[in-house]
Amino acid sequence: MNDTISNKDAEHEDKAEWRFYGRRSGRKLNTTRKQVLNDLLPKLAITEAELTKNGDQAPSSLFENNSNKTVLEIGFGNGEHLAEMMRRNGDANYIGAEPFINGMTAFLKEIDEDNLAQGSIRAHMDDAIPLVKSLEANSIDEIYVLNPDPWHKTRHHQRRIINQDNLTEFSRIMKSGAKLIMTTDVVNLIEWMITEASLHPDFEWTAKCANDWQSAPTDWIPTRYETKGAKGADHMNYLFFTKK
Ligand SMILES: C[S@@+](CC[C@H](N)C(=O)[O-])C[C@H]1O[C@@H](n2cnc3c(N)ncnc32)[C@H](O)[C@@H]1O
Repeated sequence: MNDTISNKDAEHEDKAEWRFYGRRSGRKLNTTRKQVLNDLLPKLAITEAELTKNGDQAPSSLFENNSNKTVLEIGFGNGEHLAEMMRRNGDANYIGAEPFINGMTAFLKEIDEDNLAQGSIRAHMDDAIPLVKSLEANSIDEIYVLNPDPWHKTRHHQRRIINQDNLTEFSRIMKSGAKLIMTTDVVNLIEWMITEASLHPDFEWTAKCANDWQSAPTDWIPTRYETKGAKGADHMNYLFFTKK
């Protein structure tokens, strides 16, 4: 993914539905993936039926422990970033949203016994926005949106997950001082995300110099997209915004 729109990208954007009306599937699932889907997902899933319409679902009601730190990763792909955060910091609770069944099963395979014993992970296999709208105000410590879909065509820009409406929803659920962390290597998407978040009255960009956003932080966990050397992924940008 870089800034050039290939015919394939354009064709994909024309065909893609940007609202999710159900679970999305791709490649056929092998036995292990079917197993985690049938055995593990029901234990961890936040189902649509559990979502509230009132924005009053406390993260503490979703977990079986007393941690008061909750991290949300939106569009986690295959979940390697989320899984590694869980391994590095077992004290927090994690919510991951990813509509693709193949990504979800890849992530479920990464979950170990310790994570399960801690009851520190919940997964939502659907659009993250209804989940965000369901969560209680001032309850989330960090939101990650890593390499979101670029929606290259100008007429599709409002489909980008980082937009004023969604930023308002993110701000509502974030605690004061909570972090919104976004990455991309797509030139016009980085400009878009910086502009949208900077224009939003609730967010403040923490970068003081170009190096702060053009280099990975020392403890950064790369996503699959970064490590697989996708075209352009050698110049990633790392945006850290805080809620005022
Ligand atoms: C380009 S991929 C990046 C995946 C991963 N974050 C990475 O860096 O490897 C974008 C991901 O966002 C997911 N996605 C798009 N819109 C979403 C939404 N509204 N809610 C949750 N996930 C979404 C897609 O299914 C896809 O897996």
